[in-house]
Amino acid sequence: MAEYDYDVLIIGAGPGGYVAAIRAAQLGLKTACVESRATLGGTCLNVGCIPSKAMLHASEFFDAAANGTMASMGVEVTPKLNLPKMHEQRIDAVEGLTKGIEFLFKKNKVDWKKGHATFVDAHTVKVGEETVTAKDIVIATGSSVTPLPGVEVDNDKQVVVDSTGALELKAVPKTMVVIGGGVIGLEMGSIWRRLGAKVIVVEYLDQLLPGMDLDVRKEAAKIFKKQGMELRLGTKVTGCTVKGKKATLTLEPAAGGEASTLEADCVLVSIGRRPNTSGLGLENIGLEVNQRGQIEIDHDFRTKVPGVWAVGDIVPGPMLAHKAEDEGIAVAENIAGQTGIVNHAVIPGVVYTWPEFAGVGMTEEEAKARGPVKTSKFPMMANSRAKTNHEPDGFVKVIADAETDRVLGVWAIASVAGTMIAEAAIAMEFGATSEDIAYTCHAHPTHAEAIKEAAMGVRGKPIHI
Ligand code: FAD
Ligand code: NAI
Repeated sequence: MAEYDYDVLIIGAGPGGYVAAIRAAQLGLKTACVESRATLGGTCLNVGCIPSKAMLHASEFFDAAANGTMASMGVEVTPKLNLPKMHEQRIDAVEGLTKGIEFLFKKNKVDWKKGHATFVDAHTVKVGEETVTAKDIVIATGSSVTPLPGVEVDNDKQVVVDSTGALELKAVPKTMVVIGGGVIGLEMGSIWRRLGAKVIVVEYLDQLLPGMDLDVRKEAAKIFKKQGMELRLGTKVTGCTVKGKKATLTLEPAAGGEASTLEADCVLVSIGRRPNTSGLGLENIGLEVNQRGQIEIDHDFRTKVPGVWAVGDIVPGPMLAHKAEDEGIAVAENIAGQTGIVNHAVIPGVVYTWPEFAGVGMTEEEAKARGPVKTSKFPMMANSRAKTNHEPDGFVKVIADAETDRVLGVWAIASVAGTMIAEAAIAMEFGATSEDIAYTCHAHPTHAEAIKEAAMGVRGKPIHI
């Protein structure tokens, strides 16, 4: 009889866990994956990336019809919102994709253990009444919403909600206050602003989108203001009372000062996410979490406990689905005795608003702290495709090492910046210089030409400006 039930057991079926499970099975390992949610796919497929993009995509059409963009191109329509239908297509997208993972599990012979996993020892977990053993165990339990003391979320009432509640609002709020001007706040705020809500973003810091290049963050504030969002930067929420269908928030300047109040029909709490470790029984295997609640790993995704590995939102690094997926592949390959590597210096990040905000590599501030740099910025206004499509906002910025010309970071604001940034990621993965990008032929007319022109500007001159 085999020593263990499985070669590999993965805890959590989000992008980190389900991808690790499929890759482990592809590599010939007997694999099981524990998931407590009723469907596979984790945060990303169920309540994150996919449903938010379904609502962003649909609301973008509504906005284009409502705000005159379509009329300016000779298409005159008066949009009528059918919110239940919009939600239906969101639910369809989620169902289709989560069932798709179930199909892939069956196809690859990954066993889905339904329930919450708790460690008994480093090779054994309890899932309900069942005890499952495995030679290697991967923790991929993801993250959940960080609560804000004094502002209690109740998604059922639809007054104070988190991102999951904000995806499912049954009516467009008149006024929506978004607490936190990060990725979730701006994506969700954009959806409901486009559908008619007055959106006020309250952000603790003096700029939106922490972690992005400062030029991008400053431009983001201009663009969202132009679209009609009200921004209260450098402001903190200190309390919230709910009476019936109305919330009253108490605000204070972050630096201290006089308090004020703000009323809203809906309040979204989006101040970050924290790793999921509760009920996991980490104490039973002697594994602690760091100050941020994350599990520390080495370069190969090993925790300090032999046989226990970890990937995705539960470990340090950006909380992004594609980062989790790549780590899932790498950990499975390492467990199978291969060499699985993720280059954490080249993880793109995208905010899927209109326009999109994207970046990969270092910000200019980070690059300058490392040594002398050369930078170049090319405006989308001078890109023929963006101009033709009536998309004047944004720019591409390339940051290169002043001495070697190696590209250290690329930032883009453009309607399709999320797609454009893949080119920069590949270039950086191959150690490209700005000259390499500048001398690569780009199809015309495309938004991607703005990357080429920005690269041309690092050492020489772009043509179209
Ligand atoms: P998760 O996807 O969180 O999956 C972990 C799974 O483990 C969960 O299903 C959970 O039920 C399960 N689990 C936890 N503990 C246990 C246990 N003890 N036993 C059994 N099961 C357990 N990222 C992007 O890259 N692009 C986006 O566009 C994007 N949009 C987002 C929008 C929103 C609204 C949110 C909230 C997040 C978004 N993200 C996006 C982030 C992305 O969803 C996460 O980075 C990603 O899901 C992390 O993957 P993961 O596998 O680490 O964890
Ligand atoms: P975030 O970290 O992006 O933004 C949170 C914001 O809230 C920050 O700007 C922070 O300064 C602010 N904040 C914190 N406390 C505050 C307070 N008390 N009052 C006012 N502002 C406060 O976190 P967010 O938006 O919740 O997203 C969580 C994670 O989900 C992100 O790390 C992101 O990686 C991931 N995500 C990714 C998406 C994408 O890739 N497109 C989309 C949505 C989420």
